[in-house]
Amino acid sequence: MRGGEIRAGFLSYFEERGHTVVPSSSLIPNDPSLLLTTAGMVQFKPYFLGQQEPPYPRATSVQKSFRTTDIENVGRTIRHMTFFEMLGNFSFGDYFKEGAIALAWELVTERYGVDPDRLWATVYVEDDDAAKAWLEYLPSDRIVRRDRPLDEVPLEERGKFDNFWSMGVAGPCGPCSEIFIDRGPAYGPEGGPDASEERFLEMWNLVFMQFERDDDFNIVGELASKGVDTGSGLERVAVTLQGVPSIFETDLLAPILEGAQSATGATYGRDDRDDLALRILTEHGRAATFLIADGVVPSNEGRGYVLRRMLRRVVLHARRLGVEAPVMGRLIERTVEVLGDAWPELVERKAFVLQVAASEEEHFGATLRQGMVLFGEEVERLRAEGSRSFPGRAAFLYHDTYGFPVELTAELAQEQGLEVDIDAFERLMGEQRDRARAAAKGGRDERALVEAAREAGRTEFFGYEHLAAEGRVAGLVRGGQRIESAGEGDEVEVLLDRTPFYAEGGGQVGDTGVVRTPSGEFRVEDTVAGPGEAIVHRGRVTRGEIRADQEAEAVVDAERRAAAMRSHTGTHVLHWTLRHLLGEHARQAGSLVAPGRLRFDFTHFEGLDRDDLERIESTVNSRLGEDAPVRAYETTFEYARSQGALALFGERYGDLVRVVEVGDYSIELCGGTHVPHTGQVQLALIQSEGSIGSGLRRIEALVGPDALEHVHLERRLLEEVAEALGAGDPRQAPDRARRAAARIKELEAALGRVRAEERAGRVEELVAGARDVAGVRLVLAELPGEDPGALRELAIKLRDRMERDGHGAAVLGTADGSKATLVAAVTKPLIDRGVAAPLLIDRAAEAVGGRAGGKPHLAFGGGGNPGALPAALEGVPARLAELVGG
Ligand code: SER
Repeated sequence: MRGGEIRAGFLSYFEERGHTVVPSSSLIPNDPSLLLTTAGMVQFKPYFLGQQEPPYPRATSVQKSFRTTDIENVGRTIRHMTFFEMLGNFSFGDYFKEGAIALAWELVTERYGVDPDRLWATVYVEDDDAAKAWLEYLPSDRIVRRDRPLDEVPLEERGKFDNFWSMGVAGPCGPCSEIFIDRGPAYGPEGGPDASEERFLEMWNLVFMQFERDDDFNIVGELASKGVDTGSGLERVAVTLQGVPSIFETDLLAPILEGAQSATGATYGRDDRDDLALRILTEHGRAATFLIADGVVPSNEGRGYVLRRMLRRVVLHARRLGVEAPVMGRLIERTVEVLGDAWPELVERKAFVLQVAASEEEHFGATLRQGMVLFGEEVERLRAEGSRSFPGRAAFLYHDTYGFPVELTAELAQEQGLEVDIDAFERLMGEQRDRARAAAKGGRDERALVEAAREAGRTEFFGYEHLAAEGRVAGLVRGGQRIESAGEGDEVEVLLDRTPFYAEGGGQVGDTGVVRTPSGEFRVEDTVAGPGEAIVHRGRVTRGEIRADQEAEAVVDAERRAAAMRSHTGTHVLHWTLRHLLGEHARQAGSLVAPGRLRFDFTHFEGLDRDDLERIESTVNSRLGEDAPVRAYETTFEYARSQGALALFGERYGDLVRVVEVGDYSIELCGGTHVPHTGQVQLALIQSEGSIGSGLRRIEALVGPDALEHVHLERRLLEEVAEALGAGDPRQAPDRARRAAARIKELEAALGRVRAEERAGRVEELVAGARDVAGVRLVLAELPGEDPGALRELAIKLRDRMERDGHGAAVLGTADGSKATLVAAVTKPLIDRGVAAPLLIDRAAEAVGGRAGGKPHLAFGGGGNPGALPAALEGVPARLAELVGG
């Protein structure tokens, strides 16, 4: 069975058995507790937790999944992957253990045709029901109980269980049962899954969702509706059904492995180290393709960092194979060829994926070169010290600042006979992780709010049509505690059963406004979505008291909302314009829709110049001027897509989606609020455009009256500038300014010439006034108000001048309120006679409270006693006479 047949067969098997086929969600989960989508059940989590009513009792999907925990193992085993396709079936309060096992058994033995004698099952140690259900199909010696009872182990060990599954964070969880297939003695010893996981390959995990856990793995309750969540890695099923030794020989990965070979010139199966590198290239190349296609771009944190790490590993392993040229292009092409049919987004976004990967490969190449230089310097230092241990701090710095992987540092160090202090490195990494975690948590305890939201249920939203609504206070939370009433000055979170307040989402900021009850008033400073389907109003009680269950009147700040609506419609028109003028690849990657202004991030590879920006601005505003209607309606996701609606990277859309159409040109899935006609946006002006990362640009713009106000401000500034330049008409200002600048340059040059002449005259004057000391010319002068630099310059000129017609020495001094400065310059013939400049002014420097120093031809001296300068200078001739005589 080819990979494609397994995939399609799985879905149709479950569809025939009453399951709704649900498309995969994005790898970027709609769940802040997760970095990436790790399993098929992620998009169904609210159904298991009872936060949302499941629209169907049974579902099946092929989910794009990603697990970072396995990165280090990739390529080292036959079965570990970061990215994989997870085949799954789900029951929400419908069938449970027996049903799930029966469905899986029939598919494996009848559809896949696996010999029942090759199958094993594991169950959770306390799960008698599952064990009993299996006895129907398997002999008891092939049903293995695993793990220990939850109560007997500390919380932190519960996550390590094989047969008790959770997402690793707070959420639904439960015992699970895994199906293993015996691949035969060639792959390892007998004895079942406990003996060898290479021989006994896990091909399916059936989770019986039963409990809810918190972040610490306390079981906090039983699920209202128990269910089933299964996951079976497509690639592993392919290994089994295609009878190949590893995932890399299946039809899903083999062509990509071939691509890795042709890109590097290495041959698979000749050398263990080369094979490892080739497998890493294959797996990571494929995984990175999927990540980028779902909108992940390389960065230094979160999922962007996961991607960056993978791309860097690809580069490093390619180098290990002796290849410095880029390889990702080939891997991406192959991935799209093999998987583009099943995952059309790969085809659609291929150009973008290629560009992002290429730019990161190039960037990292430069980093590697820089890292090598730093590393070389450190090695030299250690050599000089005779040290054999490479400091963990240096390794951490390379990693943290330059993205230089520690494995590489370790390997390079080893080649130099040095060992990286890994303990110190790990400690620094740990500290950094702790800091990041503390920052991410931000200290907000959401438990009370989650509970309140669950009780309050879904908040009805009226804000598309109305800016005021009557409702009821459905919950109150203050400082992480549920409360019954809140008094004046209290910072609270308020839940209403119905509200006109728009909760922050789709880039649009949350509404502000006021909620009034018969006994008090609450100022809403922000509105946010969730937990569950609740809308949370955050702010402060400004008058009286707010009590749970009271009647409430909620009124949105209308002006601020209107300004946000203008920005939102402006954003859609800008998005359309960018795609229209720059090309289809210019997709939204992030957006802020605020009152009066917008920020729009999009994928594009070059900077935009003034002309581009003006073209964009003109197009946007002429579109706005057409005053086209803006229409919003709900429809099915499929219908919306068939109409060409733009869906965002990383968004999860339910069955019913909201579509916003602007005129007949822009159509996007969007939950935001918009003006009814584009003319109401009035005006949109771009303020700035710039790069915010590889292949990502950001435009900031002002919208409506704020844009106009900005124009007024600019006009005023220009008028002031024109006035200052004496230009009657601002249009003359640039020319005036240019002429003024040219004139200043001219005058500066003239002034410079005058100064030079002056200095030359001064030199002549001073030399003419030189005294004769024992047959030696000495220029001696106090020059008030000169700075030390000018003094030095003058002394050098005097020396040069005297050298032209003989010899001599110059000693100049200056004093300000706090110190005296001396400079001495001596011609060469005089130096030869023993008159070194520092000696010439040593006593004078002492007299002003300091010391002299410098070279024989030029010396400086000075001290903190400026009053003594004249007497000090008076002593110089005697010193000269002494030096010449002696
Ligand atoms: N959620 C379970 C897993 O990931 C079953 O799909 O293994």
